[in-house]
Amino acid sequence: MQDYFDANRANWDERAELHSTDTTGSYRIGKVLAGGSSLHAIEAEEVGDVAGLDVVHLQCHIGLDTLSLKHLGARSVTGLDFSPKAIAAARDFAARAGTEARFVEASLTAAPEALGETYDLAFVTWGAINWLPDIGAWAKVVAKVLRPGGRLYLLEGHPVMNQMEWEDGRFVATFDRATPEDRPLVFDEAETYTGDARKLTNTRNYEWLHPVADVVSAVIDAGLRLDFLHEHDRLAWRAFPNMIETGEDLFELPEGAVRIPLAFSLGATKRA
Ligand SMILES: C[S@@+](CC[C@H](N)C(=O)[O-])C[C@H]1O[C@@H](n2cnc3c(N)ncnc32)[C@H](O)[C@@H]1O
Repeated sequence: MQDYFDANRANWDERAELHSTDTTGSYRIGKVLAGGSSLHAIEAEEVGDVAGLDVVHLQCHIGLDTLSLKHLGARSVTGLDFSPKAIAAARDFAARAGTEARFVEASLTAAPEALGETYDLAFVTWGAINWLPDIGAWAKVVAKVLRPGGRLYLLEGHPVMNQMEWEDGRFVATFDRATPEDRPLVFDEAETYTGDARKLTNTRNYEWLHPVADVVSAVIDAGLRLDFLHEHDRLAWRAFPNMIETGEDLFELPEGAVRIPLAFSLGATKRA
């Protein structure tokens, strides 16, 4: 398993360097440095009021959403990621924005010990759990980093959408609905997903699909109460070439296309 994580970390280190110097507009760096928010309309609405909360942002990448949550009124924000380059970029953005934030370099499984404190809100969005082989272990980590009464907000690409590839102008169901821990999906991508033409050298990465039912069950089994479960017709990236931008960096399928769920979100609360 460690080999998969090492390859993914090398891949994410490179992406962090490209994303923190992004010129494609995919990462709203200028907006966050000016004290604004990089949250999309979906999560901005669903996460609710963060004022006064101690927030942990798991798999925070280059920290833009972490800083945004502080700008939206959180009492404190802490971002955690296993990529040293991502954490370095996040700290640099915090300094440039003049925003108080803590950034911790650790793997998700080591989060409770590495963080050493608990939170009112765990924020996890857009491309996090697909890098983790064991969704039950992930949910237990979330439960451990939350205080009693604390809540999880999760927003992800939908696993049904992630089963598809685009071939000859249509979706083709290519990947099984659940990925075995010891047989991850293997991808080799020369470029990152922002449209940046700069090439990656650590191209290989490993991912796992988790059916929505497995995610919900893992959250409940970890001791959280499910507050809501939503499916969405919008996504934060152009997963298929026929998708159209709806504004605010969200994409949807065009009129006439077969509708598949593009994203899902859930809220859950740790029992007191
Ligand atoms: C697509 S990004 C998540 C985007 C993020 N929501 C944001 O605010 O930009 C995925 C992140 O997960 C991190 N990651 C992947 N596997 C991890 C692991 N096992 N432990 C900790 N972080 C991990 C990567 O370093 C990367 O920064």
